Amino acid sequence: MSTTNDQLLITNIRELVQVEENNPRKWVAGTAMAILPSIKNAWLSIKDGLIHDFGEMKDCPSPTDQVQVIDVTDKLVFPTWVDSHTHIVYAGSREGEFVDRIKGLSYEEIAQKGGGILNSARRLQNTSEEKLFEDAWERLQEVKNFGTGAIEIKSGYGLTLESELKILRVIRQLRQKSKMTIKATFLGAHAIPLEYKHNRAGYINLIIDEMLPQIADEGLADYMDVFCDKGFFTVEETDQLLKAGAKYGLKAKIHANELAVSGGVQVGVANNALSVDHLEAMTDVEIDCLKGSNTMPTMLPSTSFFLNLDYAPARKMIAAGLPVALASDYNPGSTPSGRMPFILSLACIKMRMLPQEAINAATINGAYAMEVQEELGSIARGKKANIFITKPMDSIARIPYSFGSDLVETVIIEGQH
Ligand code: NIG
Ligand code: FE
Repeated sequence: MSTTNDQLLITNIRELVQVEENNPRKWVAGTAMAILPSIKNAWLSIKDGLIHDFGEMKDCPSPTDQVQVIDVTDKLVFPTWVDSHTHIVYAGSREGEFVDRIKGLSYEEIAQKGGGILNSARRLQNTSEEKLFEDAWERLQEVKNFGTGAIEIKSGYGLTLESELKILRVIRQLRQKSKMTIKATFLGAHAIPLEYKHNRAGYINLIIDEMLPQIADEGLADYMDVFCDKGFFTVEETDQLLKAGAKYGLKAKIHANELAVSGGVQVGVANNALSVDHLEAMTDVEIDCLKGSNTMPTMLPSTSFFLNLDYAPARKMIAAGLPVALASDYNPGSTPSGRMPFILSLACIKMRMLPQEAINAATINGAYAMEVQEELGSIARGKKANIFITKPMDSIARIPYSFGSDLVETVIIEGQH
């Protein structure tokens, strides 16, 4: 189906999910995460790429001739997923390391031997911008079909000035060509390149003195990320890097506490990070530190699944009154998949989140984690018409329940499908 019609009326929606009437929310936290406002037997109208109006079928307006009507009897309508953490610009794949891990090597051991992120960086350095764009474009279409309508994309597989710029320029091209909402994050501090193994400060200075100024000059990034973890960047290095990024107006969104209780959460919160992501290794101290902050704890359960790590303590964080977001982390090393419905399944099955909580985490809270909560993340008048229509189903729980099926039938981005 494809249309240039700029007015759509969707009728007989079994359930219109995640509606916001008049009070836009910054995020949803704590016990409120279990509340997912919806309208049963609903209609939704779209005009000029925006959500125009919605309500119960008994109040459905009669369509004029200019309006394309879609009858979705038995189907549900959701706002699209907001995937606030991905690395979809990469070259090749890493299934060799996948097999090495099956045989017993750990993620860290592979990284220490020059594999892992450095393996992807070598491949990327030898790949053209055109080829990187082609592959990333394909991944973008793939995740759109899973229901993703907004996505954050990181650099971090370049690790040289030239290659980091190459990735960020690919992200800029994706943004120009796609109607999806895209944010770019500079992750030069993803790993220390081998040639700087004994000169960490040299690499950090390269990021601060050469990469950041040029990236800022070309306006290539919205955010700054650092992999603050055991075997990667220390708390002190992270602090130095985040402060340098802030001078160029880049807010922090960092990788923290994936492999160890790293101090990443604390340094992120101290630098007013927009989000701290991963959180597989957390104690009560980290949870306390997040309370009262403006930082969104973001969980990436498919990394735990793929690397056999602990899962982030979602129940503890929600019980502490925190908001949580869910994202895919789509990347070649720890999550070669961007299937958001599967992320919701993992959240429900492995982290005991209710379907309502998981949907809030993957929509409105994900939107906060990439600062698009005023335009996306819920069904609200004036927000972008980024929505998906499901296959016939009875209730929202069917999405995480059917963990291997594609139940997203039609994806509409800014009113176009
Ligand atoms: O988010 N943890 C750091 N970065 C990625 C994985 C990087 C890789 O292995 O290529 C992640 O899991
Ligand atoms: Fe990541």
